[in-house]
Amino acid sequence: MNDEHLNRIRADLGAVAAVAYLNTGTAGPFPQAAQQTLLDEAQHNFEQGRGDILGFERVIQTLDGLRAAFARLVNADADEIALTHHTTDGMNIVCWGLNWQPGDELLTTMLEHEGGLLPAYVVAQRFGVDVRVVDLGLGNDRAAVLAALDEAITPRTRLLSLSHVSWSSGALLPLDEIVALAHRRGVLVLVDGAQSVGAVPLDLHASGVDFYAMPGQKWLCGPEGIGALYVRWDRLSLVKPTFVGVFSLRDPESYTLNGDFLYAPSARRYETSSIFRPGAAAMLASLNWLEETVGWEWAFDRIQRLANRARDLLRKLPGATILTTADHAGLVAFTIDGLDPTTIAGTLRERNIVLRTIPVANGYVLRVSTGFYNTEEELVLLRDTLAEIIKQG
Ligand SMILES: Cc1ncc(COP(=O)(O)O)c(C=O)c1O
Repeated sequence: MNDEHLNRIRADLGAVAAVAYLNTGTAGPFPQAAQQTLLDEAQHNFEQGRGDILGFERVIQTLDGLRAAFARLVNADADEIALTHHTTDGMNIVCWGLNWQPGDELLTTMLEHEGGLLPAYVVAQRFGVDVRVVDLGLGNDRAAVLAALDEAITPRTRLLSLSHVSWSSGALLPLDEIVALAHRRGVLVLVDGAQSVGAVPLDLHASGVDFYAMPGQKWLCGPEGIGALYVRWDRLSLVKPTFVGVFSLRDPESYTLNGDFLYAPSARRYETSSIFRPGAAAMLASLNWLEETVGWEWAFDRIQRLANRARDLLRKLPGATILTTADHAGLVAFTIDGLDPTTIAGTLRERNIVLRTIPVANGYVLRVSTGFYNTEEELVLLRDTLAEIIKQG
């Protein structure tokens, strides 16, 4: 693979032409194939209507295709995948679905996004669960992370809910070791995969993880509104569906007016009802494009290399502190002494460089996302523009 491959990929992504787009961690650029599918599907619905039986079969096919594509990407079975609307949906489904008893403990960390934290807080309020927030530092020290989690687990701990890649520090946590540690202590593990799915290779079966929530709109370059939740096959009975509808049923007839019903024997039981069809079709087109045209191995390798390059370039800037110092995916967080991150992000935007700021305990940090489609030249441009900003004070 070479520049020709990169050029072809970039030509497929409209949004990368006008600006140096370094914010896949918020939302990835949309590929041409997904855009066309979105428009075609909307047009089809407009012209053919949405109520005919063929249209319904078409949706079912798309949803089956989506579960299978998510499953292939993370090495899971399609029956272990529920389609959701986003990462936060998956975090809610698992948090709400466990059979909590007052006094149970839910462990989370100081590196989490609201999408993982808030469901835990609500469960705490509603069911008398104790939520404990573990300090993992920036998550860069593997041994310290494992030691802190080990120390925090008590006999009352039921669930450990944490991100695989921290949205704020960019640290990639050692998932397999964390799962092994938690399971040794009888604790289930729920992972927020918003910044890892599509950024690093994943093998959920090998990791043994119990639950893994994923977005479609970030590293998978899909539209907003589609995500997925992995529920390990033998954990299905532990998570009761909170929201239910016809999609949760084994088949549309599997209920009676006496209140009896049968859930789908798969993670589809966590799905409820109709979905925005053009969005679902576009999500599948993005996943197919990534798998068939981009190539996952190439993408993962490139994301890693570009993130390393970003660290090397940024760390040499006067006053720069890199927060992402150890294992990482495609996020690099940094600060510059004496300069306000929000002001810097605004100035960079005026110069056609898109990145974002992230709130941390004592203020904000800047965060670069290195997508597989980014170029070294864009990173050098970022470094040079920052150098100018620093010089001007
Ligand atoms: C770690 C993490 N979790 C959750 C979310 C929320 O994602 P979603 O919109 O898919 O729920 C984000 C978004 O930035 C994130 O970075």
